[in-house]
Amino acid sequence: MSQLSDLLLSCWVVEAARSAVMASRGQQESAVQTAARARLLASACHAEGTRIVPNYATRHSGFLGEISGTDEDMGALGMIFLQRLGAYIDAHTRLILSEQDHDKLVELGQTELDEVNLALMSGRLFPPPAPAWPTAEQVTAPGEVLATFGILGDPHVGLTETNQSLITALRQMADDGAEFVVANGDLTKDGKAEHFHLARKIFDEAPLEVLVTLGNHDLWGGEGELSLGMERFRAAFDAEPNSVREHNGVRVIVINSADPRRSPFSPFDMMMGEFKDAPPQTVPGGTFSAETIEWMRGLEPAGPTFVILHHPPYPFLGVPPLVFGLDQASTAHLAELLVKVDAEAVFVGHSHRCHLNYLEEVPVFELASASDWPFGYSMVQVTDRGWSLNLRPIDYDPQMDPMSHRDYLFRRYATGPDEARSFVSLNEPG
Ligand SMILES: [Fe+2]
Ligand SMILES: [Fe+2]
Repeated sequence: MSQLSDLLLSCWVVEAARSAVMASRGQQESAVQTAARARLLASACHAEGTRIVPNYATRHSGFLGEISGTDEDMGALGMIFLQRLGAYIDAHTRLILSEQDHDKLVELGQTELDEVNLALMSGRLFPPPAPAWPTAEQVTAPGEVLATFGILGDPHVGLTETNQSLITALRQMADDGAEFVVANGDLTKDGKAEHFHLARKIFDEAPLEVLVTLGNHDLWGGEGELSLGMERFRAAFDAEPNSVREHNGVRVIVINSADPRRSPFSPFDMMMGEFKDAPPQTVPGGTFSAETIEWMRGLEPAGPTFVILHHPPYPFLGVPPLVFGLDQASTAHLAELLVKVDAEAVFVGHSHRCHLNYLEEVPVFELASASDWPFGYSMVQVTDRGWSLNLRPIDYDPQMDPMSHRDYLFRRYATGPDEARSFVSLNEPG
C-alpha cells in the first residue's frame, strides 16, 4: 500500500474510532459530527481505491477509550485528548484532500471544539492522580536457566542532560543477571553525531555488552536533505544494525527497520494540536531495506529464537494508526521469518507504550522506553522449559510533574495491560 493510501486509511481509522469513543462518553453531538468526518474520509479512501477495514477502527477505538476514560473520571481532559487527535487529522489531510473536502472536515470539527471549551469553562478539568509505577507480578519459567538478556527500550540518549535513567538501567540489568542487552533503536534524541558518540560511551562504560540497532529518531540528524543516520551509526558503533547474538543455544535476532526517507510533515505537537515550528525529519514508520530482507532470508531455524526490532508490525493500531508502524510489505517478511525460525517472541519499541499483540500467533511486545514513563527496563529469561518477560522499574526519579495533564495522559497511554509487562510462556510438551 502506498504511503498516501496508508495515511488516508489511518485518518479514517482515527475518525471512525473517535466517533465511537465520543458516543460511549456521552459526547453525542460531537460523535455525530465526527461520524460525518469519518464518512468523508471513507469516500476519499474509496476514490483512491483503498478499502476501509472496520476492524482497525474497532481496535483503535478500544485504545483511545482507555486513554480518554469516562466523562466522570476524565472530564474535559478526555475530550481535549480526542479533540487534539482530530486536529492531527485536520493538519495531515490538508495536502491529501480537495480544498472543499478539507474545509468541510474542519467545519465538522467545530462542534467538538465548542464542547471542549464549554467543559473547560464549567471547571471540568480535574487534577490528575499521583503517578504510581504499574507493578505487575514478577514471573519466571520453571527449569534450568539457559540465557538472560535485557532490553533497553528507546533510550533516546541526549533527551536529558545526564542520561541517568539509562546508566542506572544498564547497571540494574547487569545486577539482575543479564548476559547482554539490546538497545532497540531510537538510540539518540534526534540523530545528532554527538549523541551517537555519547550513546557509544554510555554503552561501553556499562557493566555488560550492549547490542544496537536503529530507530526513526536516529536517521535524520536535523539538517540537509539526506539522512546521515546510518553513517553516524556506523562511525560511532563500528557495528551493523542487523545482527545475531547467541548464548547457550538461545538466539536473539536484531533487525533494522528504520526508514531513511524524509517525512513531508513537520513534527506534530499533540497537546497544542498543531505542527511544531521545526523541519521535517524521517518518516515515523518502519520498513526493511532490500539488503535487510536478503539478510533475513539467510537466517535458518536454530534453538529458541527471539526477534528484536524498532517498529511494531502492521497493522499498528496505536497513535497514529498504521503509518507509525512497520509497513505491510515488511511485516509480511517479518511474519515469514517468525514462522521459518519458529520464533518465541518479538520485542519492539518506538511507541513508548506497553502493549501485547500477536503476529502469526507469536507474541509481539511493545516495550516501555527507558527515557519515558514508566521508566522501566525489560528482562527476558529463557529456561529449558520456557521463557519470561518482566518490566522492572529503573531506580531513578524522573521528576515528572504529577499535576501535568500532559504527563497524566501519557501515563494512561503508556501503561498498558499487566500481560504486556509480565509474561511467561511454557514450552509445548513434546
Ligand atoms: Fe522512541
Ligand atoms: Fe521510534
